[in-house]
Amino acid sequence: EFRLGEAAKAYNVLIGAAIEPAYLQEKAYADTLKKDFTVITPENRMKWQFIHPQENQFTFEEGDAVVAFARENNMQVRGHALVWHIQNPTWLTNREWSKEELSKVLKEHIHTVVDHYKDDIYAWDVVNEAFEGGSYRESIWYKTLGKEYIEKALIWAREADPDVQLFLNDYGIEEPGVKADAMYNLCVELLEKNIPLDGVGFQFHMDLHQPFDMPSVYKNLKRFADLGLKIDITELDIRMLGTPTEALLALQAQYYGELMDIALDLDALVSFTMWGFTDKYSWVPGYFSGQGWALIYDENYQPKPAYATLAHNILRG
Ligand code: G3I
Repeated sequence: EFRLGEAAKAYNVLIGAAIEPAYLQEKAYADTLKKDFTVITPENRMKWQFIHPQENQFTFEEGDAVVAFARENNMQVRGHALVWHIQNPTWLTNREWSKEELSKVLKEHIHTVVDHYKDDIYAWDVVNEAFEGGSYRESIWYKTLGKEYIEKALIWAREADPDVQLFLNDYGIEEPGVKADAMYNLCVELLEKNIPLDGVGFQFHMDLHQPFDMPSVYKNLKRFADLGLKIDITELDIRMLGTPTEALLALQAQYYGELMDIALDLDALVSFTMWGFTDKYSWVPGYFSGQGWALIYDENYQPKPAYATLAHNILRG
């Protein structure tokens, strides 16, 4: 039986998927994960909303369920996400904080969560989506703490776990451009200041009808790798509009394959993680009306052409 994750091990590439622990009850869901994946990311369950629902309450059960499944099946876990502007609990967002207060709250959150998952998680998305275009996003964190919240978050995460890899994660930085430059310049600055930073996560939410230019993607990823950073593909999906035709599925397969070739080629690229794996469960249709079919298995857990292309390109090396 062919297994994507096993095959990719020869090239030190992890094959990943974002998952929801509730779906693990579904046999086909769990079996498919076990067959093909070597790293999983909790799609939602380690976000503030779920893990820190009240000011003095942490709820780890569902995150723990993700970790337990990974352990049982020899998978790694990517932590997502310690600092973000979305999916924050109302106790956090519904009041004014002084700089000192918010700083204390963030530090406690990071220390508590990272410490809880110490030894269970190989990499954390420490700060997610810090940029809006080429500027710092006006999130609760930025508005109250200034851009220093980013370096503080990295330092606090490192205090809680000396071994875990610390990442900044974003979308829209896959190709060269103002946003990629902003991320690049931040990385240079952090590294110069000796702030603990191990890598950058490139989300790769791609629109089949407006695909990334792959040679540009390669060049852009390479310049981050040349800083000595890890580069991971963290949330890959390739959505399409309308009903999937054979031609659209073939094009989707081609793009998945081209990205795998990039992953196989760049040593610094270790995790090839998709934002789900079956079209049955994907954030895309709920967010982009009329769009979907973005993943490598269909709604019935049948592998799509993209799956075959990934397998082919991994075996070819
Ligand atoms: O938990 C509530 C539930 O109580 C309620 O009944 C239900 C009704 O809508 O909503 C549930 O919350 C949903 C949550 O996912 C958990 O399932 C939210 O509505 C829904 O908006 C939320 O969507 C998530 C989204 O992040 C939030 O922005 C998606 O599942 C998740 O795939 C998506 O993931 C993000 C990454 O974290 C960062 N990068 C972009 C990516 C795609 O948007």
